[in-house]
Amino acid sequence: MNRILSGIQPTGNLHIGNYLGALKNWVRLQAEYDCIFCIVDLHAITVPQDPAALRQSTREVAATYIAAGIDAERATIFNQSMVSAHAELGWILTCLTPLGWLNRMTQFKDKAGKNKDSVGLGLYSYPVLMAADILIYQATHVPVGEDQKQHLELARDLAQTFNRQFGAEYFPLPEPQIMGPATRVMSLRDGSKKMSKSDLSDYSRINMTDDADTIALKIRKAKTDPLPLPDSIEAAKSRPEAENLLSIYAALTDASLADTIAQFAGSEFSRFKETLAEVAVAKLAPIAAARGRILSDVGALDAILRRGAERANAIAQPNLAAIKDLVGLLRP
Ligand code: TYM
Repeated sequence: MNRILSGIQPTGNLHIGNYLGALKNWVRLQAEYDCIFCIVDLHAITVPQDPAALRQSTREVAATYIAAGIDAERATIFNQSMVSAHAELGWILTCLTPLGWLNRMTQFKDKAGKNKDSVGLGLYSYPVLMAADILIYQATHVPVGEDQKQHLELARDLAQTFNRQFGAEYFPLPEPQIMGPATRVMSLRDGSKKMSKSDLSDYSRINMTDDADTIALKIRKAKTDPLPLPDSIEAAKSRPEAENLLSIYAALTDASLADTIAQFAGSEFSRFKETLAEVAVAKLAPIAAARGRILSDVGALDAILRRGAERANAIAQPNLAAIKDLVGLLRP
């Protein structure tokens, strides 16, 4: 059976971009794949985190996975740091990674900005740990949003480098699954910027925990242009804010962008925004409610993470042993 691995960082509230770009697709893919979904806490600490907030956020992300429809019986859910093989393979791959590959990573450039010399080494080698997350399970498919594409190319390059260097077809080359009409959800305030947890304006994003009034208000305030809605994909392309809201609608309703554009062609934004808010609330409110219920029983949630880690370790440990043998590292 093909195997999926994906993950989300526990660095605060998940937003509708995380949901439509990743989590919503995972729910559907569970039926066809052996799925491993981690909460990547080791990635979160590549920038400073408050320890109590990190613990809380890790549980919140786990609860959101389950609330959104990930079945903890069928899929494996755990936080990355509970399975030490990620970090161990991460080191082995670090030793195979040319600096030039990392220098090309646009996400590092965006995140480090002008502070290139003062940010931590972990932020720089972030994509190598991400490759280890995937390869330690010999995962074949990785469902993510568009912004992870470059990191996945690096994971494929590292898999190939390892296979060549150690003369074994050990790692399959993981395929990115960048799917649905909302692979890159943009900020509600600026159609040229990605929706992001770190945007200073909360009005730039719809959080998975926003209540109905907040969702409606954010959508009402979302930046638009003065024209009626476009009538073709071509026409939408030059109108990023319109295209973004239409893509969100399409993804929420499981429709194609083309059908959604046909449905609203020529409408006023005000009417469309009302419909979009209704659809968003209908989809997100039950997830927020379920998330709250799951978080109210921390003991049960932690048990799910522990069981997930046991299952993940049962795959990762023998794989790590085989990898160590290939590399020439003596084992006990
Ligand atoms: P993270 O935590 O930034 O985002 C989690 C997932 O959400 C997607 N995403 C978006 N999709 C559409 N529009 C947006 N505006 C948007 N913002 C975020 C991301 O593409 C991602 O799928 N490096 C990863 C976490 C990671 C990982 C992995 C993923 C660590 N190891 C192994 C896959 C496999 C990240 O920072 O995601």
